[in-house]
Amino acid sequence: MADHFAYPVGLRLSGRRVVVIGGGQVAQRRLPALIAAGADLLLISPSATPSVEAMADAGEVRWEKRRYEDGDLADAWYVLIATADKEANNAASAEAERNRTWCVRSDDAEAATAWTPATGRSEGVTVAVLTGRDPRRSAAVRDAVVEGLRDGTLTAPHHRTRTPGVALVGGGPGDPDLITVRGRRLLAEADVVIADRLGPRDLLDELPPHVEVIDAAKIPYGRYMAQEAINNALIEHAKAGKAVVRLKGGDPFVFGRGMEEAEALAAEGIPCTVVPGISSSISVPGAAGIPVTHRGVAHEFTVVSGHVAPGDDRSLVDWPALAKLRGTLVVLMGVDKIGAIAETLIAHGKSPDTPVALVQEGTTAAQRRVDATLATVAETAKAQDVRPPAVIVIGPVVNVGPGGPAGPGA
Ligand SMILES: C[S@@+](CC[C@H](N)C(=O)[O-])C[C@H]1O[C@@H](n2cnc3c(N)ncnc32)[C@H](O)[C@@H]1O
Repeated sequence: MADHFAYPVGLRLSGRRVVVIGGGQVAQRRLPALIAAGADLLLISPSATPSVEAMADAGEVRWEKRRYEDGDLADAWYVLIATADKEANNAASAEAERNRTWCVRSDDAEAATAWTPATGRSEGVTVAVLTGRDPRRSAAVRDAVVEGLRDGTLTAPHHRTRTPGVALVGGGPGDPDLITVRGRRLLAEADVVIADRLGPRDLLDELPPHVEVIDAAKIPYGRYMAQEAINNALIEHAKAGKAVVRLKGGDPFVFGRGMEEAEALAAEGIPCTVVPGISSSISVPGAAGIPVTHRGVAHEFTVVSGHVAPGDDRSLVDWPALAKLRGTLVVLMGVDKIGAIAETLIAHGKSPDTPVALVQEGTTAAQRRVDATLATVAETAKAQDVRPPAVIVIGPVVNVGPGGPAGPGA
């Protein structure tokens, strides 16, 4: 047969019979995409890997535990042959040829009538790469294209599916690598970005010059409250037809006022996409070597805001109840009030020896960790000049792991 290029095509397999012969590693790799395509999957194989077995147990694949027999491909639209038995592979391949059914062979690309491209997906785009005989190169090209689409370095503007309105994007705790893939893509597509002081500010430098970057803290708010002024800026730019990203630190809904912004947009009929982010409440302790839970040490963690002191009428936090918990207490926005918080927890039963860690500017180049106990934390934080933003972790998990006060990183 002449060495022509393969003809690429997208098969619409939903509800159509696909027969897979052999339940080993090849089937394990290929089945998830066939399941995702909605194929009516029949697996013929005397044995299967535990993962393939799990797909069969979940009802995603019908598994007949036997060897291939002539006639098995009668109803197939597409066939994948992947057994270690050359004779069975040849026989199945011959049947597919007779039936004029496209057939992939894992053992002999030359004998196959179809090749599986290296595929990847990013936000509704399927990338499929064929390079003939070099699957590693196919995979490398696929990875480069998908990665480029995801992080916006490969600019391919959406014409029909560009996300309209405002995207509330959780930017993570600060390290630019800790934003989600979706958040980064939306940022790359934005016309206007309204950013907080916390979060991955380094990413703003990478935006093209036409993108208007607005510092949320500097929006003039005259007779409005600052939040109302931010809401108005979002609404105004979205109404002007701009793709607006509201870039927030951590997750938009963890002490982020994200829902207030979503509600303000909804009231104006402006579409709003919420992109979750990695919250500092878990990631900042983690970056400093503190797990918020640990087997045998803490089976719960509670995240609270310390921006109003215990005893203040505006506080919605039940500090006496928190003092009774055995697990981990994570306090955000609590640096200024740590003295009153520690005093209240001790007064309601927490041991003064309970370990405490303050992690300032977590995940950034300036990250630092200061260790203390409930009894000493106010004094230590002052002496060490701990400043916001910092996450305060209270509980025995502070002493777990090599980064703790007794560990080599201390
Ligand atoms: C208004 S809250 C926003 C929280 C954010 N939405 C989140 O999910 O992480 C701000 C507080 O988060 C904490 N925080 C955020 N980023 C931080 C970081 N990189 N290092 C330490 N604390 C951080 C601090 O306690 C800070 O005062």
